[in-house]
Amino acid sequence: MYVNVKLSNTYHEAKDKILKEIEPYRISSEGELLPEVEVTTMKKEWKSALSKTYDDIINIKFRALNPDFYNMLKYSSGMLGDVNIKKRMFGSLILESNSGLKIVFDENDFAFKGEGIYANKSIQISKDKSIDDSEIEAIIELYKMGNSVQEIKNPEYELMMDGVKVYKPNKMFSWDYLAGYQDIKDAIRDTIILPLKNSKVFDDITKGTRKKVESNRPKAVLFEGPPGTGKTTSARIIAGDINAPLVYVPLESIMTKWYGESERNLARIFENCKAMGNTVMFLDEIESLGASRDGNTHEATRRVLSVLLRKIDGFEVNDKTILIGATNRKNDLDAALLSRFDRSLYFRIPNDLERKAIFGNYAKHLENPELEILASQSNNLSGRNIKDVCEDAERRWASKIIRKEVDKKELPNTEEYIGALKSRASEIEFSKEVKS
Ligand SMILES: Nc1ncnc2c1ncn2[C@@H]1O[C@H](COP(=O)(O)OP(=O)(O)OP(=O)(O)O)[C@@H](O)[C@H]1O
Ligand SMILES: [Mg+2]
Repeated sequence: MYVNVKLSNTYHEAKDKILKEIEPYRISSEGELLPEVEVTTMKKEWKSALSKTYDDIINIKFRALNPDFYNMLKYSSGMLGDVNIKKRMFGSLILESNSGLKIVFDENDFAFKGEGIYANKSIQISKDKSIDDSEIEAIIELYKMGNSVQEIKNPEYELMMDGVKVYKPNKMFSWDYLAGYQDIKDAIRDTIILPLKNSKVFDDITKGTRKKVESNRPKAVLFEGPPGTGKTTSARIIAGDINAPLVYVPLESIMTKWYGESERNLARIFENCKAMGNTVMFLDEIESLGASRDGNTHEATRRVLSVLLRKIDGFEVNDKTILIGATNRKNDLDAALLSRFDRSLYFRIPNDLERKAIFGNYAKHLENPELEILASQSNNLSGRNIKDVCEDAERRWASKIIRKEVDKKELPNTEEYIGALKSRASEIEFSKEVKS
């Protein structure tokens, strides 16, 4: 959860942000690398009668390959409020905002002479001490305008630049990878897979029944339940089943401490998902985006929530697109957000039979009675816990093989798994004692 509201950036902060935000735009639609952006600082010296004071000036400079200075000026004045514009010799224009941001639109920048005798067009921006977020936004926009950068060229690339993971459909994850949970699998098949695979059947009905053409296919489903119970795994299996990529949106890709940026991130990620089409969009830890609005919700969280609500409303149901939200804390979800999900599926802690089946997936060489023993000794463990226990047993077994205590042709026996279960239990006991 973030509390800092960041408006003004020092030199180092501004440099980091500008370079990071420019990066995705530095490839032209023809695949060429566009001009670099220089961010530097220098001391400005004020000589007064008694003392000298030094102020840092932040300088940003880049070449403009294809500028339309008139439109850029218009944009800058709109973005920066009150501005003062001066014309210099040799065709350069200087714009100064009330906040002290100075932009020089240079028609003949000899510093960028480079190839041939011709001078280059450039933009130079400077300001004392610090730069606001909105000014950084304007700078990025000027770069794009000056270099004719097209918006959203490759949504998948942009998603990845935002820290969103795009998984190609993977047939390796099929439904038997997830052991047990037959009721959940049935519900997923009926409410998600069938409508996505047979969209025409569903759409033909609404064409006949509804006055206004709209879809009755589910567009948003909530996966809730304790950690490690297969929510993310199910989303990956669904994506493989309907042969669509899974766009996995972790919380960190959205929430930042910069003022206003989180809701912009969220909006941009939705736009890019929409541009990709045919995707399973998976929003993890959705309670952190949409915590209940009553109580002491931070203002920034409220803004993110309101963007989320609007984006879900505008989420278009095309052939294979569906939004899956996941949470461990459904009770914390805002009521308006909750009501936007067509269906909510509960991923429980596995019961005896399910634990046996999960052990069967990660220790397939064991016989039924042995799996039953392991199931009876692993009450309250999640699928993730069981997988961890099995991995632990395998590692212990490997050490034994290396130490030549067991034959390398043998696989870990039941005792090894029981040993791993017990050491897990004692670790938990120990950490409880340390905490109390
Ligand atoms: N029923 C199951 N059968 C087989 N493996 C399982 C099962 N449940 C969980 N696992 C394994 O446990 C690991 C964690 O599962 P997953 O990431 O899907 O949990 P999650 O519900 O998304 O958890 P979180 O709420 O912490 O994000 C995965 O590696 C998955 O393979
Ligand atoms: Mg998960």
